[in-house]
Amino acid sequence: MAAIDFNALRAQTLDSGADEEAVTVNTRALIDKVLARYSGEWTTLRELIQNAADASATKVTIRFETIPSATIPLPQDASPSSLLKHAVQHHTLKRLVVTNNGQPFNENDWTRLKRIAEGNPDETKIGAFGVGFYSTFADCEEPFVSSGREAMAFFWKKNSLFTRRLKLPEGDGNMDTNFVLDFRDTTSTIPSLLSLGQFLASSLTFVGIERIELWIDQWNILSLNKKTSPSQDIPIVREVEPKTEDGFMKVTKVSKELAQIDGEWMPIVAFNPSQSGATRSTKGEDAPSLRKFFSRLAGGAQQEESSTPNANSSSAPPNKHQKQT
Ligand SMILES: Nc1ncnc2c1ncn2[C@@H]1O[C@H](COP(=O)(O)OP(=O)(O)OP(=O)(O)O)[C@@H](O)[C@H]1O
Ligand SMILES: [Mg+2]
Repeated sequence: MAAIDFNALRAQTLDSGADEEAVTVNTRALIDKVLARYSGEWTTLRELIQNAADASATKVTIRFETIPSATIPLPQDASPSSLLKHAVQHHTLKRLVVTNNGQPFNENDWTRLKRIAEGNPDETKIGAFGVGFYSTFADCEEPFVSSGREAMAFFWKKNSLFTRRLKLPEGDGNMDTNFVLDFRDTTSTIPSLLSLGQFLASSLTFVGIERIELWIDQWNILSLNKKTSPSQDIPIVREVEPKTEDGFMKVTKVSKELAQIDGEWMPIVAFNPSQSGATRSTKGEDAPSLRKFFSRLAGGAQQEESSTPNANSSSAPPNKHQKQT
């Protein structure tokens, strides 16, 4: 059989005069595939915190809004602490709102937001791939973003994703950026607050943000504040080769900066609904607490307090603790 001349065949195909057709993408399937490579606990928050840091925000606020239980009645004793404990145990998730006070979106940011995988050539930013925002689709069907006086709503028509924009008149809105994520599944309960608190405390050490607040409905259950010393350049030791083998990257400067994180939280953060009930003791070796977590991070520099936060008294004064890195 004569060999096919593929070059000629390709040229013939291209010249065939048939209508050219763009390659199409099933956006939903594409996002699912991006998500499959990107999933993990707290991925969405990690991405939104990174984006806030890239926008030079100093503060990030995370707020879970909940739906009251349809079956379990409110506690008889309607004190703030038992209402909060009831919410953590029995409410389900309605919405997550992540707010930052960074540079509001400019025209280029809005354009990039609706282009999946448009890379960012700016080397000073953490973000590079243009996919981080799409992690919001893991738990949210139709995200809504507002920034300064503008907003963008995402919505689906079958498997295609669309956006609509709004510009508010001068004077309306503030300069914050908000990611409003309505949960696709409104039957899940509030995530582990201890694990979330630990994640936020660790995140704060890595980014330029100074303050992270965590809210559940009207309760500010955790605030983390970072103070940093002015950075000090230190010499690169001789034994360290500052260039990668192919010369792709080079360390040009090493500087040292001391950071201190002050944490203030309600005892509910250490409350574990799966172990609730009279049998659980909050004292003792294994009782989880952010205080212990901070002590561990501080490498034992902090004195370990003897009392462990009491899960049953969430209206008690918030705990304060510090960690130094
Ligand atoms: N104040 C802000 N808060 C959060 N995001 C912002 C803010 N201002 C601008 N943005 C924009 O949000 C988008 C970030 O999206 P995304 O995380 O998907 O991409 P990336 O950060 O460039 O890349 P990567 O996938 O590596 O995170 C960027 O277009 C960024 O410019
Ligand atoms: Mg990003």
